[in-house]
Amino acid sequence: MQVKKICCIGAGYVGGPTMSVIARQCPDIQITLVDMNAQRIAAWNDENLDNLPIYEPGLAEIVAEARGRNLFFSTAIREAIDEADMIFISVNTPTKNYGKGKGMAADLKFIELCARQIAEVARTDKIVVEKSTLPVRTAAALKSILHHTDSGVNFHILSNPEFLAEGTAVQDLLNPDRVLIGGEEPEAVEALANIYARWVSRDRILTTNLWSSELSKLTANAFLAQRVSSINAISELCEKTGANVEEVAKAIGMDSRIGPKFLKASVGFGGSCFQKDILNLVYIARSYNLHEVADYWEQVIIMNDHQKQRFADRIVQTLFNTVSGKRIAILGWAFKKDTNDTRESAAIYVADHLLNEQANIAAYDPKVPAEKVFMDLDQLNSRPAEENKQQVSVYGDPYEACKDAHAIAILTEWDEFKTYDWARIKAGMNKPAFIFDGRKLLQRRELEALGFQYYAIGE
Ligand code: NAD
Ligand code: UGA
Repeated sequence: MQVKKICCIGAGYVGGPTMSVIARQCPDIQITLVDMNAQRIAAWNDENLDNLPIYEPGLAEIVAEARGRNLFFSTAIREAIDEADMIFISVNTPTKNYGKGKGMAADLKFIELCARQIAEVARTDKIVVEKSTLPVRTAAALKSILHHTDSGVNFHILSNPEFLAEGTAVQDLLNPDRVLIGGEEPEAVEALANIYARWVSRDRILTTNLWSSELSKLTANAFLAQRVSSINAISELCEKTGANVEEVAKAIGMDSRIGPKFLKASVGFGGSCFQKDILNLVYIARSYNLHEVADYWEQVIIMNDHQKQRFADRIVQTLFNTVSGKRIAILGWAFKKDTNDTRESAAIYVADHLLNEQANIAAYDPKVPAEKVFMDLDQLNSRPAEENKQQVSVYGDPYEACKDAHAIAILTEWDEFKTYDWARIKAGMNKPAFIFDGRKLLQRRELEALGFQYYAIGE
């Protein structure tokens, strides 16, 4: 099976970078990235690369190289499906917010819509690739929709979950630990493997059955998130006992069986996927009556919510048990550095807790615009939008955000925060000047020497 044309449905954080990298590595394959969001497609086509809808280090350069050559962004979904030999489905699969499984199960309506559209439009055989993260056995539903057409078209379904992390997406795609392809028909699996093999060595291209591939993606995210919750649980114990979580993480991480990565204590993990994928895993386990399995994984989320809440509580307690009317500067709104993505960011929840205590919030993030901050808070429905407008201000300059603040909370580990003139910041603050470092980003000794009251996670 020769793949000359690819269509990818969903031009988001996964579809955008993944297709850009495939286009760069395979100049002879024509790739059309389609999306129903016309504004997003217009942004991908914007002449000014600063206006691309997704910020990822190195991405703009790749888009500049491939766009118009073999990489196209379009809203003409039907045409792109019709022309393609291979179709990636890379649409969002958020947690359901209605009906059965509300708050737990993955909402597959966008996936189903894609499958129905492919079934309706296709006139030639297609390889359909699940790129989105999906509940195990979703391929069975896709098959059922695709195979019940009278068109005589053959559909080959593959699962090819994506393991990139935001902020390092381009590097992760160029140099993946592994590429996972689940499928039943060897020729279709081989067709996809041949694409990756242009730049990934064969021993890193792993093939499995469909269900193992689908379940491996949920499992990988669950294990990663579990490590963060594990070290965050220990961070609370450190704060009570005089142990230092960084020292503990180093000591355990040097055990080659444990390993050093993903042991950074924080204000809690965010991002669009960890929570949604674990909730989905818990839901699936419960649906098979595996309640111990479900409870085990649910605890990862419970711990994460606790970490965000207790960080906010610590601010309130330290500020003499009230933040009412006090100005708290929040540095960092994105869920991690080097991305403009704020989905499920810890900053949203910490800010919300502080707003419940009637604090005034002054936020700054190098990549997140004010509209996004307000949208994130308004979506929680904790209070009327006008109150968020009154209590929250968003600044384009960190020094302005910190001016007259009673305390600063560092919620994203942006490198630039380390380079600030902290003496200047302190001079403009209310005294005593507090810093709550949710990322253990700054140096305690330096800040204390400047006269800050410095609190960090796990110390
Ligand atoms: P996203 O919301 O950024 O992008 C999804 C896009 O799909 C949106 O632009 C939306 O308009 C579009 N879309 C939805 N339904 C459509 C339809 N029927 N036709 C055309 N366009 C449609 O989401 P994302 O972050 O790219 O995630 C996509 C999937 O990849 C999810 O399943 C997610 O779990 C998974 N994933 C995400 C990451 C990540 O880092 N964000 C990493 C690995 C896997
Ligand atoms: C994560 C996984 O790392 C990817 O492999 C996966 O493809 C992706 O989810 C997905 O399916 O969406 P991502 O969420 O983009 O990637 O970023 P991570 O680097 O995993 O960070 C997630 C959150 O955990 C961030 O808020 C980060 O600050 C936090 N974290 C991470 C910690 O608090 N401590 C750590 O040691 C590591």
